[in-house]
Amino acid sequence: MALPWVEKYRPKSLNELISQDSIIETIQRFIKNDQLPHLLFYGPPGTGKTSTILACAKQLYTPTEFNAMVLELNASDDRGIGIVRDQIMSFASTKTIFKKGFKLIILDEADAMTNDAQNALRRILEKFTDNVRFCIICNYLSKIIPAIQSRCTRFRFGPLSDDKMNFRLDHIIQAEKVDITEDGMKAVIHLASGDMRKALNIMQSTHLAFNKVNEENVYNCVGHPSKNDMLSVINWLLNDDFTTIYNRLIHLKTLKGYALQDIMTEVSRFVQMIEFPKKVLIHILEKLSDIEYRLSNGTNEKLQMSSLISTFIMARNMSEFKPKAITA
Ligand SMILES: Nc1ncnc2c1ncn2[C@@H]1O[C@H](COP(=O)(O)OP(=O)(O)OP(=O)(O)O)[C@@H](O)[C@H]1O
Ligand SMILES: [Mg+2]
Repeated sequence: MALPWVEKYRPKSLNELISQDSIIETIQRFIKNDQLPHLLFYGPPGTGKTSTILACAKQLYTPTEFNAMVLELNASDDRGIGIVRDQIMSFASTKTIFKKGFKLIILDEADAMTNDAQNALRRILEKFTDNVRFCIICNYLSKIIPAIQSRCTRFRFGPLSDDKMNFRLDHIIQAEKVDITEDGMKAVIHLASGDMRKALNIMQSTHLAFNKVNEENVYNCVGHPSKNDMLSVINWLLNDDFTTIYNRLIHLKTLKGYALQDIMTEVSRFVQMIEFPKKVLIHILEKLSDIEYRLSNGTNEKLQMSSLISTFIMARNMSEFKPKAITA
């Protein structure tokens, strides 16, 4: 069976990783001087955290050493206090038969570790510095207790830049002979917003479903509102009465299967492109962020949609604001 591209094209060595140059350079220097500290990687999904430490491990150990020297635990493993006490402790404290160097313990998706387990870890981090290095990986730094943060060297993995993603995607497009247009590439990169895993998944599923990866197919494949639909939505919000907008939005959502959250993301992007008076823009942005927050808590979509419409109707009633038709 064909591998998903995210696995097939996971960088195999550190120099295949894009965009995180200064992090890679620093880690290479640590390894070269044999002074690797405990590491803490954090940052948004799909930016290369897991890939970086796996590539490091490949560089540090030969395939025969790998299993004895590397312990990898991720969210699918139980990581309560019991595991920290038993599995991690016993791995850390057994002598290595292969060579003198240190063992590596990778705690991936550590945001999911309980505070108790993290507290148990702080002692282990100090006790086994001679023969073990930890790499703790998470999305949210705030989920890691300060005591652990201060025992590690931290690295923030930022979202990947558009041109670097473009470069890496080009390599995969050639290898997989993907039929992709320029606007298709732009759409993939726009929807991925710095997450390489998302970019690869969108490109692979559009390629499988439609063969041709163009803008329309990409948006169709992920069910994200297309530019034309969004232009209509913005023009309704700026010109129609409440009931008309409500009915049109319901119709569009049912017809195309769009989620209100995705419509909101696009509305807030469009709003920044329209020349609103400052006071009106502030009103709209404040309300949009409230709606987005409520939606992320799983509130009723229809009610939040009414709130979105009200936001614009109120903005239209604010002084000196004369809405116009918006075009691409
Ligand atoms: N910097 C990068 N350079 C090249 N490919 C990358 C990079 N970052 C991510 N990728 C691609 O995306 C896939 C997922 O990356 P990875 O598992 O390293 O992300 P992550 O940062 O650990 O994300 P998460 O926080 O969701 O675990 C990889 O298999 C690889 O194909
Ligand atoms: Mg990861």
